[in-house]
Amino acid sequence: MLRSSAALATAIGLLTAGSQGPVALAQSTSGSDAIVVDGTAFALHGAGMSYVFHADTTTGDLITDHYGASVSGALPSPGESGVSGWVGTIGRVRREFPDQGRGDFRIPAVRIRQTAGYTVSDLRYQSHEVLDGKPSLPGLPATFGEAGDVTTLVVHLYDNYSAVAADLSYSVFPEFDAVVRSVNITNKGSGDITVEQLASLSVDFPLEDLDLLSLRGDWAREAHRERRRVDYGVQGFGSSTGYSSHLHNPFFALAHPSTTESQGEAWGFNLIYTGSFSAQVEKSSQGLTRALIGFNPDQLSWTLGPGETLTSPECVSVYSNEGIGGMSRKLHRLYRKHLIRSKFATSDRPPLLNSWEGVYFNYNQTSIERLARQSAALGIRLFVMDDGWFGDKYPRTSDNAGLGDWTPNPDRFPDGLGPVVERITNMDVNGTAGEKLRFGIWVEPEMVNPNSSLYRKHPDWVLHAGSYPRTERRNQLVLNLALPEVQDFIIDFMTNLLNSADISYVKWDNNRGMHEVPSPRTYHEYMLGLYHVLDTLSSRFPNVLFEGCASGGGRFDAGILHYFPQFWTSDNTDGVDRITIQFGTSLAYPPSAMGAHLSAVPNHQTGRTVPLEFRAHVAMMGGSFGLELDPATLQDNPEVRELIKLAEKVNPIVLTGDLYRLRLPEESQWPAALFVAEDGSQAVLFYFQVGPNVNHAVPWVRLQGLDPEARYSVDGNATYTGATLMNMGLQFTFDSEYGSKVVFLERQ
Ligand code: GLA
Repeated sequence: MLRSSAALATAIGLLTAGSQGPVALAQSTSGSDAIVVDGTAFALHGAGMSYVFHADTTTGDLITDHYGASVSGALPSPGESGVSGWVGTIGRVRREFPDQGRGDFRIPAVRIRQTAGYTVSDLRYQSHEVLDGKPSLPGLPATFGEAGDVTTLVVHLYDNYSAVAADLSYSVFPEFDAVVRSVNITNKGSGDITVEQLASLSVDFPLEDLDLLSLRGDWAREAHRERRRVDYGVQGFGSSTGYSSHLHNPFFALAHPSTTESQGEAWGFNLIYTGSFSAQVEKSSQGLTRALIGFNPDQLSWTLGPGETLTSPECVSVYSNEGIGGMSRKLHRLYRKHLIRSKFATSDRPPLLNSWEGVYFNYNQTSIERLARQSAALGIRLFVMDDGWFGDKYPRTSDNAGLGDWTPNPDRFPDGLGPVVERITNMDVNGTAGEKLRFGIWVEPEMVNPNSSLYRKHPDWVLHAGSYPRTERRNQLVLNLALPEVQDFIIDFMTNLLNSADISYVKWDNNRGMHEVPSPRTYHEYMLGLYHVLDTLSSRFPNVLFEGCASGGGRFDAGILHYFPQFWTSDNTDGVDRITIQFGTSLAYPPSAMGAHLSAVPNHQTGRTVPLEFRAHVAMMGGSFGLELDPATLQDNPEVRELIKLAEKVNPIVLTGDLYRLRLPEESQWPAALFVAEDGSQAVLFYFQVGPNVNHAVPWVRLQGLDPEARYSVDGNATYTGATLMNMGLQFTFDSEYGSKVVFLERQ
């Protein structure tokens, strides 16, 4: 519903009801009045955040006035300063959507090659509208919410010289201090134009020192937290792998150098996209900082015919003045309620056993049933058959063949999957009142091995560039999901598979990056195709729990989380390494979305041996707890049954609670995290020691997020006030180098 609108400007440079700059703006924090408009000045308010900008009456440019903690009433005007030198006014102001070619020498948010070949743009305010709720984004994953949860401001910009329109969308979720942004570029002219650069979000900060936080890594080493000072010049990162990738996550935060986990200001930015991306931050010659994130311009060349529109992915931004931790909690809450659309977003996840590290490719019907039976005997509720079950003419007995041929391997499953799955789903889960074991399966739908019937039949379905050699990684090629026939193939085989047996879980893998992409346009077209496939299948099978995976966390992004409620966090299952990876991932993504498994020792990736309890405790910090080893090795081990029960006990708090990273693994050998239930009635503390401690004191761990007045029982024993637990803390000592504790707090 349209709630407020400015009349359309009829000619360029002519603005509607104009405000001259910062103006008096009412402050409001409820969903329905989170956006306040005064002429062409706009204030977006959250419970503790204000974002204020206006259209300059002379230039039509959108100028940022404030983005940070709440402001109200009249805003002071910026001081007048002389303009001399090469950088004119346009290069010195805080711009909402910096176009290029007219003297702003900083990085642009948009670059459009006009019909005549120019790359100059002059996008000026034309009109705006305010909508209750939030429209969905065509073909793209997006946050969602009803009127009352979210309000949307759309500002229409227009370039009269080239007949290009830009619609900037700002959706405010006041409860989370979140503003979600996206941009539409529309060709209103009569010739083709090409979008060569488009950021979903661009934001300019005033002169102040800022740190840039990001997540970097590689396979089996995802989500390592990086913090560096924003310096003069451009600094940034991105992915050109075709996917969001392990290398850099499409997330960054800006924070003051003095900001800590629990104190100070932080702004978090997270792109809701699974493709290549670019994040850039520039401290300009004048000292202002510009940050932007969106498509990777190296891989964007999107031609728009007359009347056509390109919609950017969304970017979430949240503001916190409760440190980096506060920023993460706002993102987590927003994602649990307004991004992840699966019915499993916050519902208990069954403890599972995944066959991969236990048997890899070496299984058949008999051994799979043995694994399932032994899993059920441990109290596991979901058995997952990983890679190796398919391929007839080219059996998938190694990673050399079979991808693309999604029929059960007849040597391994002579009667198909149906009877095996039926036997497995008739097994009783030990320790339950007759609950039956559930069955899950692994697929890698976007890929094909050249050794497959599919590739023999459709060699043109893979990404390829003319006669350039088709480079293989892990002996496989990437199917081109930009092609509708490939999308249909995947939708059809997945539908048949899920209808062929009682399958309640799917692990959707994707194990290489893109090469030999036929054109820059293909990168985004592939993503639109992928989202169509994920949308169709997750809607068609709402009762199937989908887990994303990409050689571990290679596509752990907010785009995938829209469709799948969880993601396999890393192929590195080492208990110690996993603390760093899971803490890092939690910078942007809710723990509810993390798959985390207890695996064998010595660990298959690092060779390290850490105690069973430690490995289990680390895995319990993920929303989807599991085992990934041969269950035969644990049959006589009563401890493991207790640990599975403990995982189930903590799971609801991990899924829905607020996470406080009390001590970081990169800063201390005693990392700790606290989850506080949404209603504050319970909390669970995870505490680790990750190295030897000889003849030296150990620190106290001070809790956070409790009610200082309330009393909490600690593991059912002593009771302390929240104030004591937060201001004095608890202390634990261990005999071995890898010690761990899971401690329950219950509000009295
Ligand atoms: C990827 C995944 C693993 C496993 C293998 C199977 O590496 O990340 O968990 O499923 O593929 O080939």
